[in-house]
Amino acid sequence: MGSIVNLEQLLHDRLAPAFEAVAGAPADPAVRASPHADFQSGAALGLARTLGKPPREIAAEVAGKADLGGLAEVTVSGPGFLNLTVSDDLIVASLDALAGDDRLGVAQTKTPRRIVVDYSGPNVAKEMHVGHLRSTIIGDALARILDWQGHEVVRVNHLGDWGTPFGMLIEHLISTEGVDGDHSLGDLTDFYRAARAEFDADEGFRTRARLRVVALQSGDPDTRELWRRLVQRSEEAFLAVYDRLDVTLGPEDFAGESRYQDDLAGVVAELSAKGLLVESDGALCAFPAGFTGKDGAPVPLIVRKGDGGFGYAATDLAALHHRVRDLGADELLYVVGAPQRTHFQMVFAVARAAGWLPESVSAEHIGFGSVLGADGKMLKTRAGETLRLADLLDEAVDRASAPEIGLAAIKYADLSGDRRGDYVFDIDRMLATSGNTGPYLQYAYARICSLTVKAGGEPGRVMITQPAERALGLALLGLEPAVRGAAQAREPHRLAGYLHELAAAFSVFYEKCPVLRSEGAVRASRLALAGHTARTLHRGMFLLGIPALEQI
Ligand code: ARG
Repeated sequence: MGSIVNLEQLLHDRLAPAFEAVAGAPADPAVRASPHADFQSGAALGLARTLGKPPREIAAEVAGKADLGGLAEVTVSGPGFLNLTVSDDLIVASLDALAGDDRLGVAQTKTPRRIVVDYSGPNVAKEMHVGHLRSTIIGDALARILDWQGHEVVRVNHLGDWGTPFGMLIEHLISTEGVDGDHSLGDLTDFYRAARAEFDADEGFRTRARLRVVALQSGDPDTRELWRRLVQRSEEAFLAVYDRLDVTLGPEDFAGESRYQDDLAGVVAELSAKGLLVESDGALCAFPAGFTGKDGAPVPLIVRKGDGGFGYAATDLAALHHRVRDLGADELLYVVGAPQRTHFQMVFAVARAAGWLPESVSAEHIGFGSVLGADGKMLKTRAGETLRLADLLDEAVDRASAPEIGLAAIKYADLSGDRRGDYVFDIDRMLATSGNTGPYLQYAYARICSLTVKAGGEPGRVMITQPAERALGLALLGLEPAVRGAAQAREPHRLAGYLHELAAAFSVFYEKCPVLRSEGAVRASRLALAGHTARTLHRGMFLLGIPALEQI
């Protein structure tokens, strides 16, 4: 069943022998959905150079040889594209197969991989900022998509819960009252600022903070207890944000930097023994090949600092080693902002050299751009401070007709563009009920639900009597390639774009093909199309973490 639903694959299999015959060697027909026909193959253009023939000629030969068995019509277009128009019967047969399939034509993977997705990663005693918001939303969508494909997804929240700032934070905890008080997320940010102010102003405090770091690192029980309290309060605050945003990260997914502290000396010892570390200004550094600065000089990855402390890179090396060795990861994904790209490339290179990251395991930095204000600069409050995430979410909720709509609007805006790009935080555009927005999808879904309730009656076999029915039917068959493409490229916006197109195809259908005023088999067919659309939207929105509400 899975194969007939996948029209791209079906056409690919039909065209491949013709391409091979014409090219004299196997050639990928590269069939894709297209705005110019139902599907298009541009493979002839790629073969022109090798075959020394004009692409149109190659395309015509392929078209002549291809045995499409009545499933599709093929024509040559433009500089040498093959335009494929599938038969109505094929669309109907494929929709029949979908009707009984609760996976909507998306087969479970036959090669499940264990995929560790590192996302969110906020820092203790600091509020999550919009960069963490992007990581959280994009990472969660990828985790949901890979999960649904049948992979074994391990969510990891690499909390910043260790390091020198904790000396200052713990000392501040001691010097302030109400340590056991009920601090909110906002309070934690104020707490961090106040600690910073005390640190900057008071020499004695600075000394105590430094000693406190030593006590923390050497495992002093009272210090550990105060540290634990700070971490716990932050974790609660982060979990509240996840809950609010319908993000699938839970308490069991926290694996902060502190977890790896006991491994760091071993990391350094092993890297040194393998000859991968060089002393530079008292620090121990790795210089993986291929990383040079503007001046052409090699860039160091600092594994142990001059003062003997370990930093962010050492922790990431230990964490990576753990994920491959102990968690058995086949793939490692790090959903972290673009500025950390070089950091991860270097960590991966050092881990490969150390033998901690075998060729069979892939490691990818899934980078993303910044969120900008209306002025095109980094998002700031009017007072020029970094915007607090909770304030952004509150604003969206206040402006929307329901909290689920406001929050989904923000999430969808983050997921609907190529993640690598920056985007402008424009709450009006995000909340618009037309265009490629979260509310547009949510309203489309709710409208179909109320239509189905109002119409009553049983859906039947799909019949194609109008172009809008055909277009919607074809759109419904696009879930599989959309999910596959989004997963493969780690690009949730492919799925978002698909859902938007599907909802748009439904609205044309709804306008052109009356459901309530139709009768008999036509009505049953239209109800079936509406039902398929609702199920597909529901699933797709779930995969993006956008709630589908039956009533708004
Ligand atoms: N806490 C880090 C930050 O705020 C993000 C952690 C990303 N994950 C990692 N394995 N380094 O920048």
